[in-house]
Amino acid sequence: MDVPAIQGRSGLSLPAIGLGTYSLDGQAGVDAIVEAIGLGYRLLDSAFNYENEGAVGAAVRHCGLARQELIVTSKLPGRHHRFGDATTTIEESVLRMGLESIDLYLIHWPNPLEDHYVEAWSALIEARNRGMVRYIGVSNFLPAHLERLRLETGELPSVNQIELHPYFPQVDALAYHREHGVITESWSPLGRGSDLLVNPVIVTIAGEHQITPAQVVLAWHVHVGALPIPKSKSIERQRENLDIFDIELTAENFDLIGTLSRDDGRLADQDPSVYQEF
Ligand SMILES: NC(=O)c1ccc[n+]([C@@H]2O[C@H](COP(=O)([O-])OP(=O)(O)OC[C@H]3O[C@@H](n4cnc5c(N)ncnc54)[C@H](OP(=O)(O)O)[C@@H]3O)[C@@H](O)[C@H]2O)c1
Repeated sequence: MDVPAIQGRSGLSLPAIGLGTYSLDGQAGVDAIVEAIGLGYRLLDSAFNYENEGAVGAAVRHCGLARQELIVTSKLPGRHHRFGDATTTIEESVLRMGLESIDLYLIHWPNPLEDHYVEAWSALIEARNRGMVRYIGVSNFLPAHLERLRLETGELPSVNQIELHPYFPQVDALAYHREHGVITESWSPLGRGSDLLVNPVIVTIAGEHQITPAQVVLAWHVHVGALPIPKSKSIERQRENLDIFDIELTAENFDLIGTLSRDDGRLADQDPSVYQEF
């Protein structure tokens, strides 16, 4: 299946959908990721803390595609934000993947109470300049954290991967990203573990267009200009999630999906201004 591209700052071009890989690990994880690549997924998410950089790297090495056709992501955990630690961790990620370099490396959480994320960002810049990683970005950064990176290092991330789904549409973050050329990746795009996919608004729109609830939600991500990274271990659901770029929802459909927004829409109350993950 053909996947369109999204353009960002610094010449970064990403496929408009990626594969989430949280809990895809071990040999079953390798097999699921190789299947996804066979269907057409070219952007793979991962993180040092998912303990699956080995599975992701093995899938990339064994899938039969040339290395440059795939964009592999990993993320720096909060316990390694100090410059030296961050540098070693990035090197360790590259070694665990068994690849020459990682295409996209993100700071996983800002952990603002610890307040070492600017130092971590400097380490990512240095790793990029040394060729360990090709592009650098962040995850779970609020616009205020991004502004601080811009002011203190002169460089904004290419990507910010944030919680995004119809229950939590993050309109202000999307506006900041759009204004500054930062690509928004949506984590838990299908609202993992919530009732989003059985919500009557979503189910009714799915029936109207003869598509699945997951496809309605993923078409909404495309509509708001975000890049979803749905995770599935099933080849059928991987295929379904990829087959979204010809869906034409109506303005009325999008207005109805807009009514699902909730003030407390975060799935697990992880507000990056206070929540910290190590
Ligand atoms: N940066 C961060 O802090 C952060 C936080 C959370 C997640 N992430 C990343 O974002 C990725 C995606 O988020 P997520 O895994 O939390 O949640 P998600 O992608 O919203 O939902 C995944 C769940 O939905 C099911 N599913 C997938 N496709 C489906 C379909 N078409 N119909 C019905 N159910 C479907 C999956 O089950 P099956 O596998 O059985 O299909 C799985 O239980 C993660 O894997 C990870 O890579 C990043």
